[in-house]
Amino acid sequence: MSFAFTPERQERFQALLARYPDKRSVTLPALHLAQEQEGYLSGETIVALARLLSIVPADLMDTVSFYTMFHTKPKGKYLLQVCQTLSCSLAGADQLVDHLNEKYEIKAGETTTDGRFTLVKVECLGSCGTAPVLQINDDYYERLSLPKVDRILGKLR
Ligand code: FES
Repeated sequence: MSFAFTPERQERFQALLARYPDKRSVTLPALHLAQEQEGYLSGETIVALARLLSIVPADLMDTVSFYTMFHTKPKGKYLLQVCQTLSCSLAGADQLVDHLNEKYEIKAGETTTDGRFTLVKVECLGSCGTAPVLQINDDYYERLSLPKVDRILGKLR
């Protein structure tokens, strides 16, 4: 199935094109817009978006694969993003990942069979002073311990 922006998002895309000096400069906001609509960036979406931006799909894919906030596979309802950079790593991020591996029987990059949780490791979330940090969808959870993580996850419906 080919990708097209919904009318509302097409309007937002056109507004972005008007704001930036050239189409290529719209790459990141356009990727966010497409992912917001589709939930992830499929191959078809990347090809169609590359056409809209007048760039080569491989160049767009390079950008997608560079940033951990872009996803090329469907995600679970809750995206568990564990920071793995130095401060979080020293504060127990690896144990947090191991705990989530065991709890949901998924490795980083995988989604639970019921589609509720996707686990990913990400680079610094910019909250190093409150390590270790877990981002669930758009929300940050900081100064985590394993019991605290279990309490947080237990409240998700
Ligand atoms: S190192 Fe984890 S938030 Fe910066």
